[in-house]
Amino acid sequence: MTEAIEKSTTNDKALYVNQMFAAIAERYDLLNNLMTFGLHNNWKKKTIALALSALDTPKSALDLCSGTGDLAIILSTMVPEIKITCVDNCPEMLNLAKDKIKKLKIENIDFLSADSENLPFYSWSFDIVTMGFGLRNLINKEQCLSSIFGLLKPGGVFACIDLGYPVNNLWQKVYFSYFDNLIPKLGEVFAKNKEAYTYLPLSLKTWYKQEELKNLILKTGFKNCYFKNLLGGAVAIHIAIK
Ligand SMILES: C[S@@+](CC[C@H](N)C(=O)[O-])C[C@H]1O[C@@H](n2cnc3c(N)ncnc32)[C@H](O)[C@@H]1O
Repeated sequence: MTEAIEKSTTNDKALYVNQMFAAIAERYDLLNNLMTFGLHNNWKKKTIALALSALDTPKSALDLCSGTGDLAIILSTMVPEIKITCVDNCPEMLNLAKDKIKKLKIENIDFLSADSENLPFYSWSFDIVTMGFGLRNLINKEQCLSSIFGLLKPGGVFACIDLGYPVNNLWQKVYFSYFDNLIPKLGEVFAKNKEAYTYLPLSLKTWYKQEELKNLILKTGFKNCYFKNLLGGAVAIHIAIK
């Protein structure tokens, strides 16, 4: 059993995840581009486009587990008049988001260093809540989904993009082999951190299948939820309406 397994399955998972993201923050975007062959940019655009297709004129958005801010940047480009709050509990990641947004001269994004599992906002505050590759890292996912439901205005949209389970058996084998064998090597070479990129495939093993996540989202109160598979289910976008 690797050190990563032990840490990720104990109660100090939150601290472990936080320190892990702090350690890889500088190389996070590079590794994302390498691991997905740059495809994550299109997936994120698709996520925002699907979320917007379910809304009229959204004015306020919350991006949870923002990391380096990709989803917020895409949203602010598509809806320049929207006000976005980016939340992440890792200052190193959030600082990179701030730098990117400053360089792009974007002015409608605020930042908050906070825990997505303990959010300091009033109910019915947001038209959209987005979360990219974040939910998998949280301890109490159902509780977080319930609080997202509470923070959304009626008719508001929750858009979640994360890894999924490929539908095809052969593709599933290739996918898990890629995560088990190649990803830790990429992490070792390019982020000088093999353990962090060993955590990634491990987090996948206890993660929901697309239909399970959809059911969990519906259980927390959303009236409607569907998912869209990308790359044969390797990645999935869930869109839920309050
Ligand atoms: C895999 S990254 C995703 C970043 C970005 N959303 C993206 O799609 O590229 C996960 C992010 O979630 C953050 N995170 C993990 N647990 C968190 C928590 N409990 N509260 C807030 N942020 C958290 C990490 O610091 C990290 O920046």
